[in-house]
Amino acid sequence: MKKTLLSLLLACIAMPAVHAEESTLAGNSKLHWITLSDAAFQQLKKINPALSPKHSASLASDASGLPTGKFSAHTGEAEKVHAVQVTEAQMLALSEKVHHELKRCGGFMFHPNEAAARTALSTPVKQGLAATRPSYKIANQALVKAILPTMQDSNIAQTIIDLTNFTNRYYQSQGGVNSSNWLLQKWKTMAQGRSDISAVQFKHSSWAQPSVILTIQGTDRASEVVVLGAHLDSISMNGTSETTRAPGADDDASGIASMTEVLRAMIANKYKPRRTIKMIAYAAEEVGLRGSQEIATSFANAKTNVVGVMQLDMTNYKGGANDIYLFTDYTDNAQNTFIGNLIATYLPGVKVGSDKCGYACSDHASWSRLGYAASMPFESPMNAHNPHIHTANDTFANSGNQAQHALKFARMAAAFAIELGSEGAVTPPSGTDKTETFSGSLARGAKKSFGPFKAAAGSLKAITSGTGDIDMYVKKGSAASSSSYDCRSVGSTASESCSVNLTANGDVYLQLTGYTAGTYKLSVTYKTQK
Ligand code: BES
Ligand code: ZN
Repeated sequence: MKKTLLSLLLACIAMPAVHAEESTLAGNSKLHWITLSDAAFQQLKKINPALSPKHSASLASDASGLPTGKFSAHTGEAEKVHAVQVTEAQMLALSEKVHHELKRCGGFMFHPNEAAARTALSTPVKQGLAATRPSYKIANQALVKAILPTMQDSNIAQTIIDLTNFTNRYYQSQGGVNSSNWLLQKWKTMAQGRSDISAVQFKHSSWAQPSVILTIQGTDRASEVVVLGAHLDSISMNGTSETTRAPGADDDASGIASMTEVLRAMIANKYKPRRTIKMIAYAAEEVGLRGSQEIATSFANAKTNVVGVMQLDMTNYKGGANDIYLFTDYTDNAQNTFIGNLIATYLPGVKVGSDKCGYACSDHASWSRLGYAASMPFESPMNAHNPHIHTANDTFANSGNQAQHALKFARMAAAFAIELGSEGAVTPPSGTDKTETFSGSLARGAKKSFGPFKAAAGSLKAITSGTGDIDMYVKKGSAASSSSYDCRSVGSTASESCSVNLTANGDVYLQLTGYTAGTYKLSVTYKTQK
């Protein structure tokens, strides 16, 4: 109980009391529009009894738990929701009261103006978006299975470390801006040589930190869009100054880093989706999902056909018996089931659970309230999440100096983006299995090259046996050597084996080297091209 309460208090204060004082000192009396539940409104009245709602609505949540009444925890029950104008200090005090009195986070939503607040009181605008429903069939195993094994936790770890090197990534701070510029550059550099991939900043008029949007242009279904998202900003409950430490390693450098590894693997494997894939690093999540609300709204205004959205917010702290918890509120049931199936198919051994946030806790809610199918796979059960978030202690060390947990999320996100991105793709026909055998001898230090083997999509496997110590290098597309390979096998005998996966027809090259003098028998098995 103590732990739960403490972690609630530590974990989810978006803007705590100390900020309220700062704002008051700064004399910030600007009024903000928020919508909130009746329960939260009663807390607000304790702060200022004179406050009254400008608009109210009585709303029920729908069958999927979608936020027709965005703060209703009771499916099917009508709940009063109000739109009201408050000062920043009142908003911050409200956040505190909701934590203390209602023992939960969030509980209100920020809106840029009265019209937006009123829209939030009405049911989601599902119609009009014309989002295409995917079939949710798993039909691109060759592609997914070629890419997932190439993903590495070490890359995720490095991105987390790089992001935590900014003092903080607060939406108003220089670190917030600098981290956005850094990520833009990183993504642009990764995408060099791919004219179909671009990265831009999405600027927000009310605060400094820009969001970053990377686009992989789809080939023949480009108007249909798959979105992966994570939030770039961080926050500390100890203050919001330039020097306040808010590393946000788990919340949410882990999500940005997982997504970035999906991007790296797609590029390394020369993946080209049929549908357009967008990777979005949202600004200003920690202060009311503000970046994602502006972005999702701009997509809806443009009538963009977003077929699926996945949010990665906190992926690297294992807090429960299962590995991935699919949150059931503010998310799409059918898409969640699909993600469960993807995990069962592609991530054997990864255990799936489900839970709820209980409120609009991350950027997926900005999409789901506009009627888009969104999901939020989470690192732990809600009551056992990383207790260090929103403090100076949300460090990589406090996630155990590892990125193994985040790697599961990165692979799941890759499977999601590739299966949706390639839906309807026809696998190039392959011929039959073919095995070629070779034998010979190698002097110490000698090299012998084989291939190219003209292989179809699928796996190519090479095995050696013999005497002495022979090493093997295999590479797709160009000559293999000890300094350039996709697979190497360098044990201390002549028995080596390598497997590489092809996503389409391709040439595979192989090189054997004699670490000591020896003899070899080599066999190479692959699917022939048709
Ligand atoms: N990553 C958190 C959300 C979260 C925290 C989910 C703990 C599950 C467990 C997110 O960055 C956040 O802090 N959200 C705010 C709400 C938001 C609307 C400002 C929160 O939870 O207070
Ligand atoms: Zn957070």
